[in-house]
Amino acid sequence: MAGAVTDSRAAAKRDAAVRAVEAVRSGAVVGLGTGSTAAFAIEELGRRVAAGTLRDIVGIPTSNASHHLALEYGVPLTTLERHPRVDVTIDGADEIDPAGRVLKGGGGALLREKIVATRTARWILVVDPGKLVPHLGARYPLPVEVVTFGWQAHLDALRALGAEPMLRLGGAEHPFVTDEGHYLIDARFPNGIADPDAVHRELRARPGVVDTGLFLGLAAEIIVGTE
Ligand code: A5P
Repeated sequence: MAGAVTDSRAAAKRDAAVRAVEAVRSGAVVGLGTGSTAAFAIEELGRRVAAGTLRDIVGIPTSNASHHLALEYGVPLTTLERHPRVDVTIDGADEIDPAGRVLKGGGGALLREKIVATRTARWILVVDPGKLVPHLGARYPLPVEVVTFGWQAHLDALRALGAEPMLRLGGAEHPFVTDEGHYLIDARFPNGIADPDAVHRELRARPGVVDTGLFLGLAAEIIVGTE
């Protein structure tokens, strides 16, 4: 039964990703998101490039993992330096609330994802129905990207905000290190995040906090896949 749930979820992710790729036109600069849903989009982009139905596109990966996937699937790559304006980005999400506020970073790529999102004309989020939640933080912890120096100092501040913080590990006893060389603190809010704007503002004001997984005030087009 668990296998059936996993398969139907994967089918919904693939459906959302393939529908999002319809928005990509030949010649486009495409932001390549991170995670299992965005991976389906990268695969589909590569398929269309190989088939010749998409020509002259270039991709900007939001993580080293997506960079490698793009190479594997034959999606031509560029950089934000060469193409500072992105036509369309296809990315996943961990949670989206009814106001369109988004929690991301489960895959550890929130910083590059947010940088690319803010340079993008059409930011398309591809999700399975389980990602739509009444309150952010209901299911996923909030990832907070911090510089390694003095990272412990943020734990008390997070507890004061009502969170249960934990340093993310990347293997036995070793901290997970992001593509930008930082640590992630996963902050679980047992009752959800009551005021995402305030939490994001307070955390961002702390020296050493690079960013949070809250993507607020960005206009997303949301595609919810079905099996
Ligand atoms: C990566 O850091 C995240 O923001 C992902 O976009 C998010 O975790 C969605 O992942 P899935 O598509 O694998 O569910």
